[in-house]
Amino acid sequence: MERHSHYFDNDPSSPSRESFVELALPDLTRSLRTDSGVFSNRKIDLGTKFLLLEAPTPDNPPRRMLDLGCGYGPIAAVLEHRFPEAQLWATDINNRALYLAAKNLIGSNSVACRPEEIPQEVRFDLIWSNPPVRIGKKKMRSFLLVWLERLEPEGSAILVVNKNLGSDSLHSWMEREGWNVNRLKSFKGFRLLEVGRNG
Ligand SMILES: C[S@@+](CC[C@H](N)C(=O)[O-])C[C@H]1O[C@@H](n2cnc3c(N)ncnc32)[C@H](O)[C@@H]1O
Repeated sequence: MERHSHYFDNDPSSPSRESFVELALPDLTRSLRTDSGVFSNRKIDLGTKFLLLEAPTPDNPPRRMLDLGCGYGPIAAVLEHRFPEAQLWATDINNRALYLAAKNLIGSNSVACRPEEIPQEVRFDLIWSNPPVRIGKKKMRSFLLVWLERLEPEGSAILVVNKNLGSDSLHSWMEREGWNVNRLKSFKGFRLLEVGRNG
């Protein structure tokens, strides 16, 4: 039986149809290469745009950053633009998305790769993510914990998740897991969450 392809498949089965999307922010305008079979391939996702417009500038310049679930790389493109001195890791399990992200990233300190290719010892000052809630609650939560554990002691993660896709229960679950979670802003059901270590 034919199976529909998901944006979080390793290798999307839909035929490639490369195109471009416009990323327009007050501080950056870029045309980004995209394709079928990757998340939000016709325009920048509303939640992603909200994160890019509203994510706070960290008090200290980050040294290592992670775009977790980078897709074709809109978040990563902004991270490398805003923090050009920092090392950027953009990761995804969708190989087509990774190929595009690698093309879209222009910074000399940027790498797009599969999660298992990020050396175990690398720790992050900053993680930005529009996480893959559609992979299912249980999977998504264990996926998030794995990466939150790789924050530096003073590091923080900025996540955008829609209320309809469980942002509020994710928020309280992360608190129960011992993380300090602040809801920074809300917009059209999207919550912008800042996650860091307690204490
Ligand atoms: C909601 S999309 C966001 C994509 C992109 N950051 C954006 O804002 O357009 C989530 C991404 O997470 C990826 N993903 C799913 N499971 C993953 C995993 N275990 N590790 C890394 N990325 C994963 C999906 O393939 C998808 O590209």
